[in-house]
Amino acid sequence: NWTMANIADEAVEQIRAQVGSRRALCALSGGVDSAVAAALVQRAIGDRLTCVFVDHGLLRKGEAEQVEKDFVAATGVNLHVVDAQDRFLAALAGVADPEQKRKIIGREFIRVFEEAARQIVEGHADSDPVEFLVQGTLYPDVVESGGGTGAANIKSHHNVGGLPDDLKFTLVEPLRTLFKDEVRALGEQLDLPPEIVWRHPFPGPGLAIRVIGEVTRERLDILREADAIAREELTRAGLDRDIWQFPVVLLADVRSVGVQGDGRTYGHPVVLRPVTSEDAMTADWARLPYDVLQKISTRITNEVREINRVTLDITSKPPGTIEWE
Ligand code: XMP
Repeated sequence: NWTMANIADEAVEQIRAQVGSRRALCALSGGVDSAVAAALVQRAIGDRLTCVFVDHGLLRKGEAEQVEKDFVAATGVNLHVVDAQDRFLAALAGVADPEQKRKIIGREFIRVFEEAARQIVEGHADSDPVEFLVQGTLYPDVVESGGGTGAANIKSHHNVGGLPDDLKFTLVEPLRTLFKDEVRALGEQLDLPPEIVWRHPFPGPGLAIRVIGEVTRERLDILREADAIAREELTRAGLDRDIWQFPVVLLADVRSVGVQGDGRTYGHPVVLRPVTSEDAMTADWARLPYDVLQKISTRITNEVREINRVTLDITSKPPGTIEWE
Protein backbone atom coordinates (compact mmCIF):
# COMPACT_ATOMS: atom_id res chain seq x y z
CA ASN A 1 0.00 0.00 0.00
CA TRP A 2 0.90 3.63 -0.43
CA THR A 3 2.08 4.38 3.11
CA MET A 4 4.28 1.31 3.37
CA ALA A 5 5.74 2.01 -0.07
CA ASN A 6 6.71 5.47 1.18
CA ILE A 7 8.17 4.15 4.41
CA ALA A 8 10.21 1.65 2.41
CA ASP A 9 11.48 4.32 -0.03
CA GLU A 10 12.40 6.65 2.78
CA ALA A 11 14.23 3.92 4.69
CA VAL A 12 16.16 2.99 1.54
CA GLU A 13 17.21 6.63 1.04
CA GLN A 14 18.38 6.91 4.64
CA ILE A 15 20.39 3.71 4.43
CA ARG A 16 22.09 4.92 1.24
CA ALA A 17 22.95 8.19 2.93
CA GLN A 18 24.38 6.42 5.97
CA VAL A 19 26.33 3.63 4.30
CA GLY A 20 27.51 5.49 1.20
CA SER A 21 29.78 3.28 -0.88
CA ARG A 22 30.87 1.13 2.03
CA ARG A 23 29.67 -2.33 3.03
CA ALA A 24 27.39 -3.86 5.62
CA LEU A 25 26.85 -7.18 7.36
CA CYS A 26 23.64 -8.59 8.72
CA ALA A 27 22.93 -11.68 10.82
CA LEU A 28 19.69 -13.37 9.80
CA SER A 29 17.87 -15.29 12.52
CA GLY A 30 14.94 -16.65 10.56
CA GLY A 31 12.68 -14.08 12.18
CA VAL A 32 10.77 -11.24 10.60
CA ASP A 33 12.77 -8.33 12.06
CA SER A 34 16.18 -9.28 10.76
CA ALA A 35 14.62 -10.36 7.44
CA VAL A 36 12.86 -7.03 6.84
CA ALA A 37 15.90 -5.04 7.96
CA ALA A 38 18.12 -7.03 5.59
CA ALA A 39 15.65 -6.70 2.71
CA LEU A 40 15.62 -2.91 3.08
CA VAL A 41 19.39 -2.68 3.20
CA GLN A 42 19.61 -4.99 0.19
CA ARG A 43 17.35 -2.59 -1.74
CA ALA A 44 19.54 0.30 -0.70
CA ILE A 45 23.03 -1.06 -1.32
CA GLY A 46 22.58 -4.37 -3.18
CA ASP A 47 25.62 -6.62 -3.16
CA ARG A 48 27.45 -4.45 -0.72
CA LEU A 49 25.33 -6.16 1.93
CA THR A 50 26.35 -9.65 3.04
CA CYS A 51 23.95 -11.59 5.23
CA VAL A 52 25.20 -14.26 7.58
CA PHE A 53 22.95 -17.12 8.62
CA VAL A 54 24.26 -19.33 11.39
CA ASP A 55 22.43 -22.63 11.14
CA HIS A 56 22.66 -23.84 14.74
CA GLY A 57 20.30 -26.73 14.11
CA LEU A 58 17.78 -25.43 16.65
CA LEU A 59 15.22 -23.97 14.27
CA ARG A 60 11.87 -25.51 13.46
CA LYS A 61 11.26 -27.73 10.47
CA GLY A 62 11.74 -25.89 7.18
CA GLU A 63 12.94 -22.62 8.69
CA ALA A 64 16.57 -22.89 7.65
CA GLU A 65 15.38 -23.59 4.10
CA GLN A 66 13.06 -20.58 4.27
CA VAL A 67 16.10 -18.39 4.89
CA GLU A 68 18.50 -20.16 2.53
CA LYS A 69 16.12 -20.54 -0.41
CA ASP A 70 12.92 -18.49 -0.12
CA PHE A 71 14.41 -15.37 1.41
CA VAL A 72 17.28 -15.37 -1.05
CA ALA A 73 14.87 -15.90 -3.94
CA ALA A 74 12.64 -13.05 -2.76
CA THR A 75 15.43 -10.54 -2.18
CA GLY A 76 18.48 -11.62 -4.19
CA VAL A 77 20.52 -11.11 -1.07
CA ASN A 78 24.12 -12.20 -0.89
CA LEU A 79 24.00 -14.94 1.78
CA HIS A 80 26.81 -16.59 3.72
CA VAL A 81 25.53 -19.74 5.46
CA VAL A 82 27.49 -21.32 8.28
CA ASP A 83 26.44 -24.87 9.07
CA ALA A 84 27.26 -24.95 12.77
CA GLN A 85 24.88 -27.72 13.81
CA ASP A 86 27.57 -30.13 15.01
CA ARG A 87 29.36 -27.42 16.90
CA PHE A 88 26.24 -26.34 18.81
CA LEU A 89 25.28 -29.94 19.59
CA ALA A 90 28.76 -30.69 20.87
CA ALA A 91 28.72 -27.58 23.06
CA LEU A 92 25.30 -28.55 24.46
CA ALA A 93 26.17 -32.18 25.14
CA GLY A 94 25.30 -33.24 28.68
CA VAL A 95 23.69 -29.90 29.56
CA ALA A 96 20.16 -29.89 31.00
CA ASP A 97 20.06 -26.59 32.88
CA PRO A 98 18.06 -23.92 31.00
CA GLU A 99 20.28 -20.94 31.78
CA GLN A 100 23.35 -22.99 30.97
CA LYS A 101 21.83 -23.82 27.59
CA ARG A 102 21.15 -20.14 26.92
CA LYS A 103 24.68 -19.13 27.86
CA ILE A 104 26.27 -21.78 25.69
CA ILE A 105 24.12 -20.96 22.68
CA GLY A 106 24.74 -17.22 23.04
CA ARG A 107 28.48 -17.77 23.36
CA GLU A 108 28.72 -20.14 20.40
CA PHE A 109 26.62 -17.82 18.29
CA ILE A 110 28.96 -14.90 18.91
CA ARG A 111 32.01 -17.05 18.14
CA VAL A 112 30.60 -18.42 14.91
CA PHE A 113 29.37 -15.02 13.81
CA GLU A 114 32.72 -13.48 14.65
CA GLU A 115 34.56 -16.01 12.47
CA ALA A 116 32.21 -15.37 9.56
CA ALA A 117 32.36 -11.59 10.02
CA ARG A 118 36.15 -11.67 10.10
CA GLN A 119 36.29 -13.64 6.84
CA ILE A 120 33.93 -11.23 5.14
CA VAL A 121 35.70 -8.14 6.47
CA GLU A 122 39.09 -9.50 5.38
CA GLY A 123 37.70 -10.43 1.98
CA HIS A 124 37.01 -6.74 1.36
CA ALA A 125 40.05 -5.34 3.09
CA ASP A 126 41.38 -3.45 0.04
CA SER A 127 38.15 -2.21 -1.47
CA ASP A 128 35.18 -0.56 0.25
CA PRO A 129 35.43 -1.67 3.86
CA VAL A 130 32.73 -3.47 5.81
CA GLU A 131 31.86 -0.87 8.43
CA PHE A 132 28.22 -1.44 9.22
CA LEU A 133 26.16 -4.01 11.01
CA VAL A 134 22.44 -4.19 10.29
CA GLN A 135 20.14 -4.83 13.25
CA GLY A 136 16.39 -5.37 13.27
CA THR A 137 15.86 -3.23 16.36
CA LEU A 138 12.22 -2.14 16.73
CA TYR A 139 10.78 0.93 18.45
CA PRO A 140 9.73 -1.01 21.59
CA ASP A 141 13.32 -2.28 21.93
CA VAL A 142 14.61 1.30 21.72
CA VAL A 143 12.16 2.47 24.38
CA GLU A 144 12.82 -0.50 26.64
CA SER A 145 16.54 0.14 26.68
CA GLY A 146 16.05 3.81 27.54
CA GLY A 147 16.68 5.25 24.10
CA GLY A 148 19.91 3.34 23.63
CA THR A 149 20.49 0.98 20.78
CA GLY A 150 17.90 -1.56 21.89
CA ALA A 151 17.92 -5.28 21.24
CA ALA A 152 19.04 -7.38 24.13
CA ASN A 153 22.27 -8.44 22.45
CA ILE A 154 23.58 -4.93 21.80
CA LYS A 155 25.77 -3.32 24.40
CA SER A 156 27.06 -0.07 22.98
CA HIS A 157 26.53 2.19 20.05
CA HIS A 158 29.53 1.20 18.05
CA ASN A 159 29.95 -2.40 18.84
CA VAL A 160 27.99 -5.57 19.36
CA GLY A 161 28.11 -7.29 22.70
CA GLY A 162 30.65 -10.08 22.62
CA LEU A 163 32.53 -9.12 19.47
CA PRO A 164 36.20 -8.26 19.91
CA ASP A 165 37.43 -4.67 19.67
CA ASP A 166 39.04 -5.08 16.27
CA LEU A 167 35.65 -5.94 14.80
CA LYS A 168 33.89 -2.65 15.36
CA PHE A 169 30.80 -1.80 13.39
CA THR A 170 28.44 1.11 13.23
CA LEU A 171 24.85 -0.02 13.54
CA VAL A 172 22.27 0.39 10.82
CA GLU A 173 18.81 0.07 12.36
CA PRO A 174 16.19 0.79 9.71
CA LEU A 175 13.28 -0.43 11.87
CA ARG A 176 14.01 1.76 14.89
CA THR A 177 10.81 3.79 14.57
CA LEU A 178 8.48 0.89 13.78
CA PHE A 179 6.20 -1.43 15.69
CA LYS A 180 5.90 -5.13 14.94
CA ASP A 181 2.70 -4.81 12.87
CA GLU A 182 4.36 -2.14 10.74
CA VAL A 183 7.39 -4.35 10.23
CA ARG A 184 5.12 -7.14 8.98
CA ALA A 185 3.33 -4.73 6.64
CA LEU A 186 6.72 -3.60 5.36
CA GLY A 187 7.74 -7.23 4.88
CA GLU A 188 4.66 -7.76 2.74
CA GLN A 189 5.41 -4.60 0.81
CA LEU A 190 8.90 -6.01 0.12
CA ASP A 191 7.35 -9.32 -1.07
CA LEU A 192 9.01 -11.45 1.58
CA PRO A 193 7.67 -15.02 1.99
CA PRO A 194 4.53 -15.05 4.18
CA GLU A 195 6.05 -17.75 6.41
CA ILE A 196 8.73 -15.26 7.39
CA VAL A 197 6.47 -12.20 7.57
CA TRP A 198 3.90 -13.91 9.77
CA ARG A 199 6.23 -16.05 11.83
CA HIS A 200 5.35 -16.20 15.52
CA PRO A 201 7.96 -14.93 17.97
CA PHE A 202 10.58 -17.61 18.49
CA PRO A 203 13.32 -17.63 21.13
CA GLY A 204 16.94 -17.21 20.11
CA PRO A 205 17.97 -20.50 21.78
CA GLY A 206 15.28 -22.12 19.67
CA LEU A 207 14.18 -25.69 20.22
CA ALA A 208 17.02 -26.25 22.71
CA ILE A 209 14.83 -24.72 25.43
CA ARG A 210 11.84 -26.78 24.31
CA VAL A 211 13.63 -30.09 24.79
CA ILE A 212 13.37 -30.49 28.54
CA GLY A 213 16.54 -32.28 29.55
CA GLU A 214 19.69 -32.78 27.52
CA VAL A 215 19.56 -31.64 23.90
CA THR A 216 20.49 -34.28 21.35
CA ARG A 217 20.04 -34.46 17.60
CA GLU A 218 17.53 -37.26 17.95
CA ARG A 219 15.44 -35.37 20.48
CA LEU A 220 15.49 -32.25 18.32
CA ASP A 221 14.33 -34.29 15.34
CA ILE A 222 11.43 -35.76 17.32
CA LEU A 223 10.37 -32.34 18.58
CA ARG A 224 10.73 -30.82 15.10
CA GLU A 225 8.25 -33.32 13.68
CA ALA A 226 5.68 -32.80 16.43
CA ASP A 227 6.08 -29.03 16.25
CA ALA A 228 5.62 -29.04 12.48
CA ILE A 229 2.33 -30.94 12.82
CA ALA A 230 1.02 -28.50 15.44
CA ARG A 231 1.93 -25.52 13.28
CA GLU A 232 0.46 -27.08 10.18
CA GLU A 233 -2.88 -27.77 11.87
CA LEU A 234 -3.00 -24.29 13.40
CA THR A 235 -2.46 -22.79 9.96
CA ARG A 236 -5.00 -25.13 8.37
CA ALA A 237 -7.57 -24.00 10.97
CA GLY A 238 -6.84 -20.38 10.03
CA LEU A 239 -5.81 -19.52 13.58
CA ASP A 240 -2.21 -18.32 13.13
CA ARG A 241 -3.03 -14.69 13.70
CA ASP A 242 -5.22 -15.38 16.77
CA ILE A 243 -2.37 -17.02 18.62
CA TRP A 244 0.70 -15.26 19.96
CA GLN A 245 2.94 -18.32 20.10
CA PHE A 246 2.48 -22.07 20.05
CA PRO A 247 5.46 -23.80 21.63
CA VAL A 248 5.51 -27.58 21.57
CA VAL A 249 7.65 -28.95 24.37
CA LEU A 250 9.28 -32.38 24.49
CA LEU A 251 9.54 -33.94 27.96
CA ALA A 252 12.53 -35.92 26.87
CA ASP A 253 13.37 -37.47 30.25
CA VAL A 254 9.79 -38.56 30.93
CA ARG A 255 8.32 -41.80 29.61
CA SER A 256 4.85 -43.15 29.89
CA VAL A 257 3.20 -46.40 28.92
CA GLY A 258 0.87 -46.47 25.98
CA VAL A 259 -0.69 -48.94 23.63
CA GLN A 260 -0.82 -48.92 19.89
CA GLY A 261 -2.26 -51.78 17.85
CA ASP A 262 -1.24 -54.92 19.74
CA GLY A 263 1.85 -53.37 21.18
CA ARG A 264 2.75 -51.67 24.40
CA THR A 265 4.70 -48.46 23.90
CA TYR A 266 6.94 -46.61 26.29
CA GLY A 267 7.35 -43.21 24.72
CA HIS A 268 7.66 -39.55 25.52
CA PRO A 269 4.99 -36.91 26.14
CA VAL A 270 4.83 -33.56 24.39
CA VAL A 271 3.13 -30.52 25.82
CA LEU A 272 1.14 -28.15 23.62
CA ARG A 273 1.54 -24.59 24.84
CA PRO A 274 -0.59 -22.30 22.66
CA VAL A 275 -0.88 -18.83 24.21
CA THR A 276 -2.51 -15.51 23.51
CA SER A 277 -0.66 -12.35 24.50
CA GLU A 278 -0.10 -8.70 23.63
CA ASP A 279 3.58 -8.40 24.43
CA ALA A 280 4.74 -11.70 26.04
CA MET A 281 4.92 -10.03 29.46
CA THR A 282 1.63 -11.67 30.40
CA ALA A 283 -0.13 -14.42 28.52
CA ASP A 284 -3.15 -16.66 28.70
CA TRP A 285 -3.51 -20.22 27.49
CA ALA A 286 -5.32 -20.21 24.18
CA ARG A 287 -8.74 -21.86 24.01
CA LEU A 288 -8.02 -23.73 20.81
CA PRO A 289 -11.06 -25.53 19.39
CA TYR A 290 -11.28 -29.15 20.56
CA ASP A 291 -11.34 -30.45 17.00
CA VAL A 292 -8.03 -28.70 16.24
CA LEU A 293 -6.47 -30.12 19.41
CA GLN A 294 -7.82 -33.55 18.59
CA LYS A 295 -6.36 -33.43 15.08
CA ILE A 296 -2.96 -32.39 16.40
CA SER A 297 -3.00 -35.13 19.04
CA THR A 298 -4.00 -37.86 16.60
CA ARG A 299 -1.47 -36.81 14.01
CA ILE A 300 1.44 -36.46 16.42
CA THR A 301 0.88 -39.87 18.02
CA ASN A 302 0.34 -41.49 14.62
CA GLU A 303 3.20 -39.82 12.79
CA VAL A 304 5.91 -39.44 15.43
CA ARG A 305 6.78 -42.91 16.66
CA GLU A 306 8.60 -41.81 19.82
CA ILE A 307 5.66 -39.77 21.13
CA ASN A 308 2.72 -41.60 22.69
CA ARG A 309 1.05 -38.86 24.70
CA VAL A 310 -0.03 -35.30 23.97
CA THR A 311 -0.88 -32.92 26.80
CA LEU A 312 -2.17 -29.35 26.95
CA ASP A 313 -0.69 -26.65 29.18
CA ILE A 314 -3.52 -24.59 30.72
CA THR A 315 -1.37 -22.25 32.81
CA SER A 316 -1.50 -18.49 32.34
CA LYS A 317 1.56 -16.22 32.67
CA PRO A 318 2.00 -15.46 35.48
CA PRO A 319 2.45 -17.85 37.23
CA GLY A 320 3.81 -19.89 34.32
CA THR A 321 6.14 -18.49 31.69
CA ILE A 322 5.41 -19.02 28.01
CA GLU A 323 8.41 -21.30 27.53
CA TRP A 324 9.02 -24.24 29.84
CA GLU A 325 12.65 -23.33 30.33
P1 XMP B 1 8.78 -16.47 28.75
O1 XMP B 1 9.04 -17.93 28.63
O2 XMP B 1 9.76 -15.79 29.67
O3 XMP B 1 9.04 -15.85 27.32
O4 XMP B 1 7.35 -16.16 29.12
C1 XMP B 1 8.65 -14.54 26.95
C2 XMP B 1 9.00 -14.37 25.48
O5 XMP B 1 10.40 -14.39 25.29
C3 XMP B 1 10.78 -15.49 24.48
N1 XMP B 1 12.01 -16.05 25.05
C4 XMP B 1 13.24 -15.82 24.55
N2 XMP B 1 13.65 -15.12 23.47
N3 XMP B 1 15.89 -15.70 23.97
C5 XMP B 1 14.97 -15.09 23.18
O6 XMP B 1 15.36 -14.48 22.19
C6 XMP B 1 15.55 -16.41 25.07
O7 XMP B 1 16.40 -16.97 25.76
C7 XMP B 1 14.15 -16.48 25.37
N4 XMP B 1 13.44 -17.06 26.37
C8 XMP B 1 12.13 -16.80 26.14
C9 XMP B 1 9.61 -16.44 24.51
O8 XMP B 1 9.55 -17.26 23.34
C10 XMP B 1 8.45 -15.49 24.61
O9 XMP B 1 8.14 -14.92 23.35
